[in-house]
Amino acid sequence: MSRYKTPLRYPGGKQRLAPFIREVMETNGLLGGDYIEPYAGGAGVAIELLLAGDVARVHLNDASVALYAFWRSILDETEEFCRRIACASMTVDEWRKQKAIMAEGEAAGTLDLGFSLFFLNRCNRSGIPSGGLIGGQDQTGRWKMDARFTRRNLIARIEAIAYRRELVRVTNLDAEDFIRRELPGMPRKSLVYLDPPYFKKAERLYLNHYTPEDHARIARVIQRDIRIPWVVSYDGAPEVLAHFATRQFFMYDLQYHAGKAYKGREAFFFADSVRIPNGSVIQAINEVLLGQGA
Ligand SMILES: C[S@@+](CC[C@H](N)C(=O)[O-])C[C@H]1O[C@@H](n2cnc3c(N)ncnc32)[C@H](O)[C@@H]1O
Repeated sequence: MSRYKTPLRYPGGKQRLAPFIREVMETNGLLGGDYIEPYAGGAGVAIELLLAGDVARVHLNDASVALYAFWRSILDETEEFCRRIACASMTVDEWRKQKAIMAEGEAAGTLDLGFSLFFLNRCNRSGIPSGGLIGGQDQTGRWKMDARFTRRNLIARIEAIAYRRELVRVTNLDAEDFIRRELPGMPRKSLVYLDPPYFKKAERLYLNHYTPEDHARIARVIQRDIRIPWVVSYDGAPEVLAHFATRQFFMYDLQYHAGKAYKGREAFFFADSVRIPNGSVIQAINEVLLGQGA
């Protein structure tokens, strides 16, 4: 596994699943192929695979304009982005300024918006853009706002990704459009990993406009329209299990913290064409997840 990680903190981020996804790629002869995330978020798995040299290219798509701006900026304006990390003042005033930029959205411009997402992600509790500041507005908490703003380490992570910028494609589409428009042009030797907003408890954590009907529709689109090997992870809500009832799947326990700890059953679903790594790997994943928490 790589020394460097995604620069973003993501509640429930799936970076810990990277060894399992790698195993899926290996079992199916897909190592060295393309790796695609239509709901990329912090792209923990993609970055891990990219930096380990396991894949030829990674495709990161996310409907969030701010996330897109972040990925675009670190690839296209690496030096300026890293300069801003080095110089950022760790004050409550600066945090307010960055919140205002975030609220402007696209109008703020790609670099400013991308940096504000990063700043808030590193300075807010659990990395949630709308969450409170670590240490509180009066900065009297045990941890201060710079607790996760480890400048040198974050710059190194960003530089490691930007060094491979030719291998990273970033898009800002709705996942359904991405599946329809972009996937048909992808090489056959590819794995698509979909990590949609959870059916339950997602609202607070991520951009999520999915209604139960949207979840049902995207499940149909995935199973009907994706022609290359795919894997989906979801919360194990009964509705979700019903949508994928005729696919191969397994459940595992995931524990993560987003303000408070949740513990729940999660599910992985697979395209019929995908060979699932043997049980011992799944067992190992369960142990890793249970052992580590977030
Ligand atoms: C569960 S998170 C993905 C987390 C990611 N796997 C990680 O490890 O950081 C879901 C992501 O989907 C994005 N999203 C929500 N609705 C979407 C949509 N309709 N199309 C594409 N992306 C969407 C959110 O912005 C969020 O980043």
